[in-house]
Amino acid sequence: MRFLVTAGPTREAIDPVRFLSNRSTGKMGFALAAAAAAMGHEVTLIAGPVALSTPERTRRIDVVSAADMAATVKAEFPLADVTIMTAAVADYRPKQVAPNKIKKREGDWSLELERTEDILSAIGKLKSQRQILVGFAAETEDLLENAVRKMKAKNLDWIVANDVGAADRGFASDSNAVTLLSRSGERLDLPLMPKTKLASRLIELLLSTE
Ligand code: CTP
Repeated sequence: MRFLVTAGPTREAIDPVRFLSNRSTGKMGFALAAAAAAMGHEVTLIAGPVALSTPERTRRIDVVSAADMAATVKAEFPLADVTIMTAAVADYRPKQVAPNKIKKREGDWSLELERTEDILSAIGKLKSQRQILVGFAAETEDLLENAVRKMKAKNLDWIVANDVGAADRGFASDSNAVTLLSRSGERLDLPLMPKTKLASRLIELLLSTE
């Protein structure tokens, strides 16, 4: 099958030397891409700025901003059978990008932000019957309630509920514990394990049910 996986953070420029970003390192997405490729699937990996090497037998496309990621995902999505969006896409970007380095002045300063596009919602609207669409929900509170709400709002087949508030899982960790929820109400709890192992389990589960 053809897999499309997004991974890592995005960077939203403030000026030529500064940006807004988040703590995502891309490890979960790269592990999923590697696991799918190792199982013989064709994998395209769209990566934000991360310090990871490309998994074997995957086609990697590097992007920087949420807008770059949106354009690349929209171009690749029609070809995919299974799309897994692990990327921690910025929800806001600076309304204006300064052409030169912003100089400090006396007193406080506020930065005006505007919304980026919700990529997963956009492709959820384009999804065909044959396509499987999987999102991640990064939460620090009300994990399952928020995950179910996101799955419905974004028209997903599955959502991986990920508690990112604890040090032993989520962002930057080599291990993770998640709950996989399906649109038909299935719930599978996957205990703390290395992200590489979790990735293989998730791919098997996504393809075995529904
Ligand atoms: N996502 C996306 N485009 C965005 C924001 C998020 O495609 N601009 C995707 C992520 O890749 C993830 C899912 O949406 O698969 C949920 O992301 P998350 O950050 O948990 O939630 P948000 O939808 O951004 O909601 P909130 O910030 O309110 O938690």
